[in-house]
Amino acid sequence: MDDGLDKEGSGLKTVVESKAPDLGIPPEACLIEGIIEPCTIVIFGASGDLTTRKLVPALYNLYLNNGLPNPFLIVGCARRKWTRQDFQRRMEGSIKEAGDMSTSKWPAFEAFLYYHPLEYDSPQSFAKLTQFLRDLDRKHSMEGNRIFYLATPPFLYKKIAQMLGQAGLSVERVNGNGWSRIVVEKPFGRDLATAVDLNQTLYESFQEHQIYRIDHYLAKETVQNMLIFRFCNTIFEPIWNREYIDYVGIIAAETLGVEHRAGYYEQAGVLRDMFQNHMMQLLALTAMEPPSLFEADRVRDEKVKVFRSLKPLPNTNQEENLILGQYGSGRIDGKEVSAYRDESGVNPESLTPTFAIMRVFIDNWRWTGIPFYMISGKRLARKLTQIVIQFREVPHSMFQDILGEHIMANRLLLGVQPDERISLTFQTKNPGAMICIRSVTMDFNYYLNYSGPVLAAYEKVLLDCIQGDHILFWRQDGVELSWSFLTPVLEMCENCPERAEQLHPYESGGWGPEAAQAWMKLITGNG
Ligand code: BG6
Repeated sequence: MDDGLDKEGSGLKTVVESKAPDLGIPPEACLIEGIIEPCTIVIFGASGDLTTRKLVPALYNLYLNNGLPNPFLIVGCARRKWTRQDFQRRMEGSIKEAGDMSTSKWPAFEAFLYYHPLEYDSPQSFAKLTQFLRDLDRKHSMEGNRIFYLATPPFLYKKIAQMLGQAGLSVERVNGNGWSRIVVEKPFGRDLATAVDLNQTLYESFQEHQIYRIDHYLAKETVQNMLIFRFCNTIFEPIWNREYIDYVGIIAAETLGVEHRAGYYEQAGVLRDMFQNHMMQLLALTAMEPPSLFEADRVRDEKVKVFRSLKPLPNTNQEENLILGQYGSGRIDGKEVSAYRDESGVNPESLTPTFAIMRVFIDNWRWTGIPFYMISGKRLARKLTQIVIQFREVPHSMFQDILGEHIMANRLLLGVQPDERISLTFQTKNPGAMICIRSVTMDFNYYLNYSGPVLAAYEKVLLDCIQGDHILFWRQDGVELSWSFLTPVLEMCENCPERAEQLHPYESGGWGPEAAQAWMKLITGNG
């Protein structure tokens, strides 16, 4: 008889198979809903990595899943003097390289691909682009709906937004234009002042409802599931507060190093690269109040309240709340890897942090006094993104004579990647005559009983943008509040006379610097 215990493992794992009620909805019905209006996506930076590795594969996969409007056009723009055929061949190469998609529909898909060479600082060049887009609209009987995707280096964002404005491409529903949207990739500035400045420039040509600031973490399935998990179950919300929770851990660990992005990363470091955006979003989803409606602005209003309630980090005794590190050499997946300072393009004396653990507090009724530990680092032992909710110990142990004072407290784990799961650890009695306690874990795998198609993060955000849904995108007040919190922290770290001493080296393939191990152990159980 199957008693549900994992006999081969530690014997401590209870796996519970939850059967979803059959609502008569086929799995694919959850993939795409609503109206998808015909439109053209203009990708600036079409010769770059983001276009080949993420955007075109994502669009092609949407096409394979019937997730694109008809007609739908892709216009690649970059400085290179490519022909349309050059662009089509390169994009086909990227699909083949990705290797996980059928190429049988590529010939039909590539008929949507166009290319237009462009000088980013030339009004004449943008005037030609305008004409090119209008001609395409006529040829394909389109209504002038357009998405302008900034897949360029960030220093070009302002220029392109201005040029689109001057060319008349940002205004909606005049001169043959339909709707007009602009997609901005992070970084949204490098501190509060530059974020405000970028936004002012965007606002000269676009209104907030036209701007889509991407955070691909928000489009991860299990991150989206946070809202469902928290607000579609009654049993967790009453204990989701300082009365029952001891601390919260949010970790995004990577095994990858800086790769070929040293030019950007040297200027950014982990706080700008991961904390200002992804970590803040995970924090907001964990800590926010229930929105009154599942609607972009209601959800974003609640997130903004969390950012507004963040207690500023004290600017003395930095290491009480923030530990920074930089990876040295080591082994990842059995292979030798270089130290950060030996990576190509990195200053051999670089003081850029590649690891941070930050303890923050949220000053509001629900959370005051509860530490939230946010951790992110490159070249760590394994890829792991998860949220840990550590509950308090029982207030009094009736078993103190047998089991001692402390009984391990409950822990809820929301796994984002690579394991997409929810698990709850609680205590039970070991079978037998004696009172022996054991921790068991109820484990839910997110894809259990689901066999339909799944949208990758970029597919989801592209589809939402095509459909005009802002729920997974940053609103400007959120961006500015996140920077308001982080800018003084960055200034404290970057202007500190002990900057070099406070950057702790760590071996690649481990769990970060020695100085962070006590906190790491709280969150990962390692260290
Ligand atoms: C990006 C960062 O936003 O997120 C990268 O710029 C990081 O440095 C990446 O590697 C991590 O994303 P994911 O989805 O692999 O966790």
